[in-house]
Amino acid sequence: MNKYYGESGSYLKDHKDYFTKKQLDIDVSFLRCALSFKKTDKILDLACGDGRHTLEIMKKGFDIDGLDFSNFLIKTAMEKARKENIKVKYYKQDIHSMKTGEKYDKVFLFFSDLGILKPSKLIKNVIKVLKPNGSFLLDSDNIFRLISYLKNNPKDPYDFDFRNQELIDKKTKEKFGYYTCKELTDLFEANGLKVTKIYGDYNMNPLTLESERTIIVGKLA
Ligand SMILES: C[S@@+](CC[C@H](N)C(=O)[O-])C[C@H]1O[C@@H](n2cnc3c(N)ncnc32)[C@H](O)[C@@H]1O
Repeated sequence: MNKYYGESGSYLKDHKDYFTKKQLDIDVSFLRCALSFKKTDKILDLACGDGRHTLEIMKKGFDIDGLDFSNFLIKTAMEKARKENIKVKYYKQDIHSMKTGEKYDKVFLFFSDLGILKPSKLIKNVIKVLKPNGSFLLDSDNIFRLISYLKNNPKDPYDFDFRNQELIDKKTKEKFGYYTCKELTDLFEANGLKVTKIYGDYNMNPLTLESERTIIVGKLA
């Protein structure tokens, strides 16, 4: 999976058609609204990729840092910021061992790859960097939509292992963890994050079987 986000990986190519200005505007409006960004906020874009959101949010006058473990994507993000003459602090770090030395009012993990992360370690590290009353937005795939999709598309290159709640690549046998909204909200609450909002997509619709996403916002109590 590290390779996928590296220089020879196909991540940026695979999403070329999805990463449009129109989609970026939808994403940023959603984040601004769901996390109620204030101009005084210090914000962290966790797993920021090539910095598409970090840069756009900075351009709108907010103070935001980006963090990602991919050398290639962080370099790409830095190069984009340099070209646009925008000063953004980027950290090339793994979420599981991150240390920025900063505290944040708002943290988000958006369009995420939760399946390759350890959610309990992630939450613990988010708590460490949140200011009192700080908020965290976690955006991940909707497990129910995925299962229903796989049921209707048995020839898909992925299988679902119900025993372990994992998506399995039929060819490579790579595994990706999937979580229900209840499991994630329980994790938030167990770590002191009071769940304030739940959405099923970037248009702020409620979570249903068909929702594209499972999006949870929690506030440090
Ligand atoms: C699907 S991409 C989304 C990137 C960005 N949020 C966006 O919307 O453009 C997932 C990102 O997570 C990063 N990532 C995956 N595991 C990570 C980890 N353990 N620590 C830091 N970044 C990680 C990848 O390098 C990649 O940039």
